[in-house]
Amino acid sequence: MTEAAIQVRDLRKSYGRVEAVKGLSFNVGRGEIFGLLGPNGAGKTTTVEILEGYRQRSAGEVTVLGHDPASRDRRLQERVGIVLQSCGFYPRVSVGEAVQHFASLYPAPRDAEETIALVGLEEQRKARTAELSGGQRRRLDLALALVGDPELVFLDEPTTGFDPAARRAAWGVVRRLGELGKTVLLTTHYLDEAQALADRVAIVKDGMIVAEGPPGELAPGQPTYRVAYDSNGRRVQHETDDPTDLLHRLTSDALARGERLEGLAVTRPTLEEVYLELTEEDER
Ligand SMILES: Nc1ncnc2c1ncn2[C@@H]1O[C@H](COP(=O)(O)OP(=O)(O)O)[C@@H](O)[C@H]1O
Ligand SMILES: [Mg+2]
Repeated sequence: MTEAAIQVRDLRKSYGRVEAVKGLSFNVGRGEIFGLLGPNGAGKTTTVEILEGYRQRSAGEVTVLGHDPASRDRRLQERVGIVLQSCGFYPRVSVGEAVQHFASLYPAPRDAEETIALVGLEEQRKARTAELSGGQRRRLDLALALVGDPELVFLDEPTTGFDPAARRAAWGVVRRLGELGKTVLLTTHYLDEAQALADRVAIVKDGMIVAEGPPGELAPGQPTYRVAYDSNGRRVQHETDDPTDLLHRLTSDALARGERLEGLAVTRPTLEEVYLELTEEDER
């Protein structure tokens, strides 16, 4: 069996009295695009920074490409590409110079021009980084993470602050990484982004995983069906994990009274409703 690209077991991290990560466990397979989805403060960046080797964990087991990232082994760092949530930069160098420079730090880099094209910055190649828009700067961050031709790429909130067009372009880049066989761990607080990109998603809230699975199959704990109808001008709503039994009781009671259940509907919550329900305290 080939081992997972990332293995996390009961990971914990405290900042003083604040426990930011409270026992996370997940695996990311090789070649998989995995999303950590959750609101601000959920512990996503903390988790990713531990996996990148930038932060010490308080407890738990972590391996990245078979190594403990806390070792900060140079051979591991060469195989990993990192896009930080926010990145300061050298304002006077051009896009081309920055990418060339980063390429020179790796033993077997990608071609710099090709990498610039991959993120769609061909026209900005000679522009100074200080002249780039926010979205272009994020794409440059991505190019810098990719130029070492890493096996595994960490993307922390890769499209936060992007306009819709830049967002679509960045999604295209992430998909392309998937096609190239790279493993990608991305964090996002956008549900649609996780749905569009990730093979599997873990929803993180308050330092814990509250749901995990392919985005199309994420479901809340029970109950999972809603049964609704109108009664005396009011919408009545029930939640159940056994709609057959509930419908039987509701409809036979109604028929016994000689009534009809107007507007009767059975629905499953959408992924958006699941996400909002699971994370709502943080959204307020
Ligand atoms: N360096 C730090 N020192 C103290 N608390 C921190 C630090 N970094 C993050 N935190 C706290 O840890 C929690 C998780 O933060 P973070 O991992 O950045 O979450 P996310 O990336 O999901 O928004 C938050 O409550 C945050 O305030
Ligand atoms: Mg973050």
